Amino acid sequence: MLAASFGIFMITAQSSPNIALIKYWGNRDDALRLPAADSLSMVLDFPTVQAHIEPATTFTVRSYDHAGIEKPQNEASMQRLKKHWELSKQFLESIGQSQGIPQEVSITIRSGIPPAIGIASSAAVFSCLGEAYGALVKGKALTREQVSILSRIGSGSAGRNSFGGYVALKNHGEGIGSAYGRQIVDEHHWLLHDIIIVPSREEKKVGSTEGHALASTSPLFKERLEQIPRRMRECIDALQTKDFEKLQRVSEEDALDMHRVMQTQTPPLEYLSDATHRIIRDIEKLRKSDKLDVLYTMDAGPTVHLICTEDSRGAVETFAQQQKDCIVFKAKTGNASSIKNI
Ligand code: DP6
Repeated sequence: MLAASFGIFMITAQSSPNIALIKYWGNRDDALRLPAADSLSMVLDFPTVQAHIEPATTFTVRSYDHAGIEKPQNEASMQRLKKHWELSKQFLESIGQSQGIPQEVSITIRSGIPPAIGIASSAAVFSCLGEAYGALVKGKALTREQVSILSRIGSGSAGRNSFGGYVALKNHGEGIGSAYGRQIVDEHHWLLHDIIIVPSREEKKVGSTEGHALASTSPLFKERLEQIPRRMRECIDALQTKDFEKLQRVSEEDALDMHRVMQTQTPPLEYLSDATHRIIRDIEKLRKSDKLDVLYTMDAGPTVHLICTEDSRGAVETFAQQQKDCIVFKAKTGNASSIKNI
């Protein structure tokens, strides 16, 4: 949709988080959030985030949490949002699409994601903003790959939200636009569920941005980069052929490998807790005894994502509800980020 061609500039975009099956960890360029390797994720349908933008004389941000309460913006978060806007203008200029783009914007973010639950809210927020900034262009509408780039320069994993279903973030060449999303299969191809078990609501001490920047200090990082092309191929094949066992093997291998890199970087990052390890052990036992199609994966926190088929969902949900002192969320394969109204 081309907002500027109609002279209308209020844009609302919507997006949701994604959960990686082949993880993104480490950059080849931290400032531009160009990943060191390809990654692949399932876009989720829940919880959602909306971002509303309009032209302004100064750059302003207002943000409301899942309860509708306004959250004060801290300096670091303001700077990150401002840098994303500046890089977005830079990218639009580099592809000849900067005509009519306002100098500044006023942003309102309404997040449906409770804080510190181990669901990447930055992916949902920055993919909303990428989508909204893309809709500001006056000329030919941006491609989904270009929208993915606008999202990625705000948060690496957000680049995987510009398509629905199962999306790879792939490196192609050099420069600001040299990593973007590619749809592997769409949201109708294979419905999977993500039963999310949250053992702790503590805010993490070290965020992903700082963690990525130190990934290369791990002696295991080089080997990880060498293994990823094979894992990507296996994961893509498993998704295309709906081979759950293959998907389970490769995604668990990759998640555990990413956590070993985190644990061995300097300073080390330990995101997994005793509760995470206990949940993993118990789900492995249950999967074997009850022949369930379920896999586990963890991002930068102790939260366990149990991804399962429709047939195994009931048993996995029951297992999740039985976990003491944990909060459970349910999501499933979802759609791309989109414009709600202009
Ligand atoms: C562990 O996309 O959150 O969730 O670019 O700093 O926002 P920033 O990093 P982010 O990194 C995601 C890391 C991960 C794995 C993944 O989602 O692939």
